[in-house]
Amino acid sequence: TNAAVAQTAYPIPENVFAETVTEVQHYTDRLFKFRITRPASFRFRSGEFVMIGLPNAERPVYRAYSIASPSWDEELEFFSIKVPGGPLTEHLQKIVVGDTILMKKKPTGTLVNDALIAGKRLYLFSTGTGIAPFASIVRDPETYQKFEKVYLLHTCRLDAELEYGRELVAITKDDPLVGEEASAQLVHYATTTRDQTDRMGRLTDLMDSGKLWEDLGVPPIDPAEDRGMICGSMAMLKDVKARLEAAGLTEGANNRPAEFVVERAFVD
Ligand code: A2P
Repeated sequence: TNAAVAQTAYPIPENVFAETVTEVQHYTDRLFKFRITRPASFRFRSGEFVMIGLPNAERPVYRAYSIASPSWDEELEFFSIKVPGGPLTEHLQKIVVGDTILMKKKPTGTLVNDALIAGKRLYLFSTGTGIAPFASIVRDPETYQKFEKVYLLHTCRLDAELEYGRELVAITKDDPLVGEEASAQLVHYATTTRDQTDRMGRLTDLMDSGKLWEDLGVPPIDPAEDRGMICGSMAMLKDVKARLEAAGLTEGANNRPAEFVVERAFVD
């Protein structure tokens, strides 16, 4: 394609992987998913992120992207926003199958099972593309060994923005490796804030009113049994974190596992 030709006019920088796009799916004018080949030597933990760029400049622009596929998958998946005029996403949103993606070699991140103490229930709080690291977590068998129930919670403005999550859950429950566990243990709860749908409202408001716990048929958050991961905008992280801390949960890290972990869904 023309895109591929234009891309390869620049040399591939040293110390990055150059991978090939294998699939692109657009959900709305703001959201899309893409998959790339996985370098044989690349290892990561489910929930981590990497730096992604395009070979379309002498000095490529890199942005942090959560890996949405699980660590056992032979390809890598990403779920991205399209920001008009965004230094990376303006170009990234135009990729087609066969194009080249640059990826730095070192994955990192806090939304990993290792940063949490085992518990009865795992709540995955997400807004928008913040669902991406959880798309990895819910496809990892370790998640179902560590937690009896896993609640994938997702709020978006529009119903069409929830489609990625619905597809993810269907694929996961049908998966040969984790399908049986996911069918028994994974619950998907998705809300909109602007489209009129059956389930509406911000997760924070639904926590405050108690409707979230009522709808899920669970007791309110309890530090003895419940664990959380949070991924969304800065404001969302702060607001959900305040509620978990008020309920008595403490924030964990890779070297200090505790009851919840937090990471920004990177945008621009
Ligand atoms: P709202 O429509 O009320 O702003 P965005 O697309 O702007 O990243 O937002 C994604 C979703 O996150 C929207 O449904 C938005 O609701 C919701 N949201 C925004 N800020 C917060 C917050 N502080 N706490 C919970 N949800 C939020």
